[in-house]
Amino acid sequence: VAPVITIDGPSGSGKGTVAGLLARKMGWNLLDSGALYRLLAFAAGNHRIDLTNEEALKLLAAHLDVQFVAAGDGQEQRIILEGEEVTSLIRNEQVGAGASQVASLPAVRDALLQRQKAFLEMPGLVADGRDMGTVVFPDAPLKIFLTASAEERARRRYLQLKAKGDDVNLASLLEEIQARDERDTQRAVAPLKPAADAILLDSTELTIEQVLERILHEAAN
Ligand code: CDP
Repeated sequence: VAPVITIDGPSGSGKGTVAGLLARKMGWNLLDSGALYRLLAFAAGNHRIDLTNEEALKLLAAHLDVQFVAAGDGQEQRIILEGEEVTSLIRNEQVGAGASQVASLPAVRDALLQRQKAFLEMPGLVADGRDMGTVVFPDAPLKIFLTASAEERARRRYLQLKAKGDDVNLASLLEEIQARDERDTQRAVAPLKPAADAILLDSTELTIEQVLERILHEAAN
């Protein structure tokens, strides 16, 4: 089987960026599992499905028509939902909060499990999320748990959304991040926590390049 590097951690820890860079560097496939939960919340909105309707969401998750298109150098992969490009449409706090809500439903997680495992192809996979090392790829030879202080994570998210032209407020972002942390760590299914064999990496004082370097160093061992 192909090797997997899992990168789990809370919102704004830098996982997404690091996972994308690492996948490109290794020439491996990338699984942005958070995008699947975001896409589901977004699609539910399109289809007027309530975010508490577990049965309907489970069906939607099982049939979700999604394509991830590898993008050029330095670019985020493009995400196509039901034929429409939604790459930046799913990157806001409203969709993030919806994602966290649907992600707490066991039937939804179950419906997305095989879809996530299918990303594993030769020569390898970098999997980014909350439960990559604990649930989806428990046998991965290298598991990273990336954290940073809530304040630093809110600051990063602020800069990211601002650069995108969104109207954002640092204090409310911090509150939203803390609320999402709370929900992600306290939920009954696949709560956010490091796998027993994960390497803990605190990125509060590190640049993206430094985080990438540490992971590459671990991968070489
Ligand atoms: O970018 P950010 O880290 O804020 O969020 P994301 O990785 O896109 O994930 C959005 C939400 O999906 C998270 O708050 C989790 O509740 C959920 N999620 C999950 O439950 N399991 C995963 N493997 C990935 C995301």
